Amino acid sequence: MSNIKEIITKEVDRRRTFAIISHPDAGKTTLTEKLLLYGGAIRLAGSVKARKANRHAISDWMEIEKQRGISVTSSVMQFEYNGYCINILDTPGHQDFSEDTYRTLMAADSAVMLIDGAKGVEAQTIKLFHVCKMRGIPIFTFVNKMDRASKDPFELMEEIEKVLGIQSYPMNWPIGTDGDFKGVYNRKLKQIELFEGGNHGQTVVSSQKGSIDDQVFADLLGDHYYNKLREDIELLDMAGEEFDKKRVLKGELTPIFFGSAMTNFGVQPFLEEFLSLAPCPGIKNSSAGEVDPTWDKFTAFVFKIQANMNPAHRDRIAFMRICSGRFYKGMEVNHVQQKKTVKLSQPQQFMAQERTIVEEAFAGDIIGVFDPGIFKIGDTLCEANSDLKFEGIPIFPAEHFARVMSADTMKRKQFIKGINQLSEEGAIQVFKQIDIGIEALIIGTVGVLQFEVLEYRLKNEYGVDIKMQHLPYKHARWIENSDIDPRKLTLTSSTMIVQDENDRYVLLFENEWSIRWAEEKNKDLVLYDIAKKVE
Ligand code: G4P
Repeated sequence: MSNIKEIITKEVDRRRTFAIISHPDAGKTTLTEKLLLYGGAIRLAGSVKARKANRHAISDWMEIEKQRGISVTSSVMQFEYNGYCINILDTPGHQDFSEDTYRTLMAADSAVMLIDGAKGVEAQTIKLFHVCKMRGIPIFTFVNKMDRASKDPFELMEEIEKVLGIQSYPMNWPIGTDGDFKGVYNRKLKQIELFEGGNHGQTVVSSQKGSIDDQVFADLLGDHYYNKLREDIELLDMAGEEFDKKRVLKGELTPIFFGSAMTNFGVQPFLEEFLSLAPCPGIKNSSAGEVDPTWDKFTAFVFKIQANMNPAHRDRIAFMRICSGRFYKGMEVNHVQQKKTVKLSQPQQFMAQERTIVEEAFAGDIIGVFDPGIFKIGDTLCEANSDLKFEGIPIFPAEHFARVMSADTMKRKQFIKGINQLSEEGAIQVFKQIDIGIEALIIGTVGVLQFEVLEYRLKNEYGVDIKMQHLPYKHARWIENSDIDPRKLTLTSSTMIVQDENDRYVLLFENEWSIRWAEEKNKDLVLYDIAKKVE
């Protein structure tokens, strides 16, 4: 085995690349920060949260983007812990929830599903969970905010199974609930861990660990908590699922951890167990067969394109996930879709909160490279002279629609140019309404903030003011049958017929009911959801 192959294998084995999926306010920022704290990447908790505060209002967000000329949302944070090299992918949430949130999951090898113990499984978590499920990646659950009043842990397990359809296995169990969270019981080691102090979570907490049979813990916890713990454990062992690592890795069983990101209780045991169970970068399918991450040829795919908000420079950053081999600064690679050699310039990586120029990176890592407009989402890069392409990135369903046109008809050319650019970046989906003039376009987005980004960028980068009319549609369905004339279909009056950029017919519906109605009234009609198809 050559030396470089050995180095790559060693680096791949120690990499863990994952995303945290959650509903806004479940504590993703807090948990991310605490993981960085434990990894020694930051000294005091508080800095990541401060950054988040900056992006609350849309107008602030635009201002910050402008001032810095780069995206505030760093796409990945890398840090080290116990010999592991960890990449946490940022999945934009809140108002900036968009297709990028979904696409980021295409670059992760596993996911941490963060749930607020008081609220249980919430809407955005369900959507993100389904994307992870579709990919078959392992999903680890962290039930947060156990320091406060929360739902009963058994009830939470049941909810996860019912709502998400995944079986669960608690790796640890909370001791003391409803504002009196004392510690966790580790089922594998049959060990109690009680936490103390912690300086409001600003620094790491200390703990006392030992066997559940040790009298010290019975005394420390008192009869009520101690007996309750024993009963719960007995019930779990008797009635619960069995732990099966293979099923975890296939995404069929989710290990559950209980804790509190705010007080740090349970964060370290979670991190350590997660790192030992979560997979390192694995084999990826391509048009030329399986690509092993330890292959000594660099390969990567682009999963996100971030525009530079500085109007003076229309350059972009293309984020790519390295699938195999080693990357080094300034390397020249084969851009498979464009069939040409490109130099990967200004490669950047995000260490904790700092942007740095990357000298070297390995399979599993994410790098952002300067993009003069040559990359598209889903593009493959390959060091070898090969035309291998990675499987495409699915299009995710737009849920918001608006009719958009240039306020000044003389500026139509710039308007179209800007729309095409945003569409290439994957920020918007573009449709044309059939049988009416071409002045207006129907724009679909995954997140509602994208409309504001569209308006802002067309004005600032292309000098185009737009008129926008929000439409009540929620679902887009493509027509499978090429022989059907959509004008002849029996549809509800509110259904709109449009064409996508490839001239395929698409129906826009306001609700599920009208989709079913269209299918019932038109027996030959076959509709599909593009989100289920990989282009
Ligand atoms: P997000 O990124 O998922 O949106 O959530 P974030 O970490 O910002 O947390 C949302 C709120 O929940 C914050 O409160 C945060 O302090 C709180 N929180 C996070 N983890 C825990 C936990 O383990 N226990 C408790 N009790 N609260 C937690 P906030 O009032 O919105 O902000 P702040 O003023 O505390 O910063």
